[in-house]
Amino acid sequence: MKRSSLSMLPLAVLLLVPALTWGRAQDLQTIKLNEPNKTRGLPVMEALSVRASARDWTDKDLSLQDLSDLLWAANGVNRPDGRKTAPSAMNAQDVDIYVFLKDGVYLYDAAALALVPVLAGDHRSEIMMMRPGGPGGPGPKPGDKPGEKPEARPQAPPPGAKPGPGGPGGPPTQAPVQLILVSDISRFRMGETSLKLEWAALDTGIVSQNISLFCAATGLGTRPRAAIAKPRIKELLKLSETQYPLLNHPVGYKR
Ligand SMILES: Cc1cc2nc3c(=O)[nH]c(=O)nc-3n(C[C@H](O)[C@H](O)[C@H](O)COP(=O)(O)O)c2cc1C
Repeated sequence: MKRSSLSMLPLAVLLLVPALTWGRAQDLQTIKLNEPNKTRGLPVMEALSVRASARDWTDKDLSLQDLSDLLWAANGVNRPDGRKTAPSAMNAQDVDIYVFLKDGVYLYDAAALALVPVLAGDHRSEIMMMRPGGPGGPGPKPGDKPGEKPEARPQAPPPGAKPGPGGPGGPPTQAPVQLILVSDISRFRMGETSLKLEWAALDTGIVSQNISLFCAATGLGTRPRAAIAKPRIKELLKLSETQYPLLNHPVGYKR
């Protein structure tokens, strides 16, 4: 081997090792979640009175208890027969929750109270459907499609403001947790596909409201988002044809 190609060897190895290991679920450990704390939070009427979609949160990681309680409230097992906090059409339990954290993506296993590794690496920023102008824009304008409120519309910073993550005019801070709600319509044992898709949307909406209410009751910030990069999410999570990613919930401590 020539001297020049030999000298390139350590660099090639350095580049190749992360490339080979990046993204492998086996590089992550199963995260054992805590038993849910069922006595916390505001009473339901007070939670309803403060529920509102948030847009801004700190990047502080959620505590294990907050993450455990969030997921249990969303779609945890609440009865000995395995039924869940969220009802589902024909008790199909079609809605799975994928949890995007800094170190990787996990699947919530409600029965085991665990997060099962799916994919290593930080993929949180790949969820959002990008629009021209990048993230950080204000609310919808006439003509926006329903469910596609453009967080991506550019927003003019106030004079003298320095755009930066979470700052005026800059992109919003990345939420520490990004939930993706995926309905697997193959779990409906009967019905035409169009009806199954209707049930999938309804079931997902109920899980979404559980998340919003839990966050309202416990002071966390969240927002349901339908404007998500579905093809990329399907690719990342290796979803089958019957699995539909329908909604995203960023969750974090409110700024
Ligand atoms: C099904 C659904 C889809 C939504 N999709 C988005 C979205 O893609 N982007 C976004 O910024 N907000 C989204 N939202 C949040 C709504 O814009 C928000 O709920 C609405 O403006 C009312 O505000 P509130 O939740 O504070 O009452 C969605 C809400 C729902 C229920």
